[in-house]
Amino acid sequence: MLLSISTAVIAAATGASALAVAGSKPEQIRSDQDPVFHLYLQAHPKNASQVVLGPVGTSEYFNIGGTIQSTNTSRYLNIGGDSTSYKTLTFDTASSTTAWQLEGDTIITSTSSSYGRQLNFLACKTDGGFWQVYLQTGSATPSGQTCSNYQSLHLPYEGPAV
Ligand SMILES: *[C@@H]1O[C@H](CO)[C@@H](O)[C@H](O)[C@H]1NC(C)=O
Ligand SMILES: *[C@@H]1O[C@H](CO)[C@@H](O)[C@H](O)[C@H]1NC(C)=O
Repeated sequence: MLLSISTAVIAAATGASALAVAGSKPEQIRSDQDPVFHLYLQAHPKNASQVVLGPVGTSEYFNIGGTIQSTNTSRYLNIGGDSTSYKTLTFDTASSTTAWQLEGDTIITSTSSSYGRQLNFLACKTDGGFWQVYLQTGSATPSGQTCSNYQSLHLPYEGPAV
């Protein structure tokens, strides 16, 4: 009897701390669909401003809300002014994009931003097996590259919904 009571107490305590971890920051950001399934947002190892998806082992962590800032490099995720429907993302020391928002576990640009509510990204293969990421506001893709359109970016799933 005593044993089962302490087990219940331990289980309750463990559950409480798991909840605290799930809601804590900073967060990793990853893709959920092939060919970039469970690759993580990070800077390219040869270019600190190039935004790519790559292995979990080199994943960066981010504070998300208006801006997205890497806690690893302190750089901000900014959206470029490309005339194409896909916009180059860069990591810069200064923030020029305040459109980012979390919708559930999904990274979007907010409805009230100049982009409207966008949640599609384009990923194109680049050197070292990484995939460069662009915000996709339409359907165009660059020619002569291996790309995957309409990807979305999410926080990792961290346990049962609460
Ligand atoms: C680094 O990446 C940025 C963003 O993709 C790009 O504009 C720049 O040309 C790259 N720099 C070099 C040296 O390749
Ligand atoms: C980024 O920071 C996190 C938390 O401090 C750390 O666990 C992770 O290894 C770092 N990533 C890189 C690529 O250094």
